[in-house]
Amino acid sequence: MLLCQKDKFSLHPDIHYFNNARKGPLLKSSEAAAVRSLIQQRNPSDLPNSGFFEEMDMVKNIFGQLVNCDAKNVAVIPAVSYGFSSVLNNTPAKRNGHAITLKDEFPSGYLSLEKWCKAHDNELKVIGPHHSNDIGESWNNNILESINQNTSVVLMCSVHWMNGLKYDLKAIGEKCKKVGARFYLDGTQSVGVMPIDVKQYNVDALVCGTYKWMFGPYSVGLSFMSDVFNDGQPLEESWMNRVNAKDFTSLTSYNSNYFKGASRYSVGETSNFILMSMLVESLKQILEWKPENIQSYCKELILPFKQFMQENDLATWSEAYFSNHLFSLNLPDHISIDALKESFTANKIYASQRGTGIRLSVNVFNESDNIDVLIKSIMKVL
Ligand SMILES: Cc1ncc(COP(=O)(O)O)c(C=O)c1O
Repeated sequence: MLLCQKDKFSLHPDIHYFNNARKGPLLKSSEAAAVRSLIQQRNPSDLPNSGFFEEMDMVKNIFGQLVNCDAKNVAVIPAVSYGFSSVLNNTPAKRNGHAITLKDEFPSGYLSLEKWCKAHDNELKVIGPHHSNDIGESWNNNILESINQNTSVVLMCSVHWMNGLKYDLKAIGEKCKKVGARFYLDGTQSVGVMPIDVKQYNVDALVCGTYKWMFGPYSVGLSFMSDVFNDGQPLEESWMNRVNAKDFTSLTSYNSNYFKGASRYSVGETSNFILMSMLVESLKQILEWKPENIQSYCKELILPFKQFMQENDLATWSEAYFSNHLFSLNLPDHISIDALKESFTANKIYASQRGTGIRLSVNVFNESDNIDVLIKSIMKVL
């Protein structure tokens, strides 16, 4: 059982941080790596040519272990929007087909898919739940029912980014495979904090920002791209992705071959020394803790809060669809969201409003004291 890991971070001691879903805090080990790397920049003479590739190869390798794929299937991207553009630029459209996404999908995915639909004369279907007692079940059923022979692609968050609702990714992946549709996930709100297996879920692409649940730096994302992308067109032509890149003496013997797999989709200047050194440390730490243990820690931590939500009718959906690291409050009409936000501010609680809901998120740096303060500050406005 993982214990609280607060001492590995440098969060202000007097705050209650429930906002990892917006931005994860920096690990002390990543901070030290960034400083080391910054100092190394003073003397480029100390940087061997291999140093342009080593950390990025490590990052691909560790990410591959986290999501169960080969390192060669990992691309380094600057943002989720970039990752989805690469993926969708290499996505065939069915005649009279459609694409599927979720109600209130994150804009980087939604906007990329909307553009693709217009360019390929496919209809964009946005799937939400019916009004029902069990939103999770209804939403999952609606997704599964909407996938058919005319579906070109399904693009969705691995858990809903606004409220953590879980989807039956295995069933959705199977249905996509059966009808010949591509299955693309935005893993930004779950990779690092809960287990995911791209093979088990038949995922064709898993695009992730690292600055939340992987404690990575802003502006470095990672993307699993299955072998269906091996012969595709990247957004740009970086010399770093060509097979002769590691031999700096012959870069102008222009080589038309890319490194095997998803490498061609990595953004130029991938080495990004300072940021990459931070990400190596944070991914190593997550691999050591293990996503399943982090999720169990969150589950145990929020038990009293879940009970509080149930007793006060604040619970959103049943256990099967509930993520323990990211959840929202089902606020009754008589509670003003502004009053709640004021109470949070007074108690130094950091959370986010997304849409009309309050999104809360926890991680291994949170402890039971944070949960007590959270409950008390909500009780004040009930
Ligand atoms: C689900 C999800 N995807 C992507 C992003 C970030 O997208 P981008 O990297 O394109 O800025 C966020 C940020 O909140 C997010 O919650």
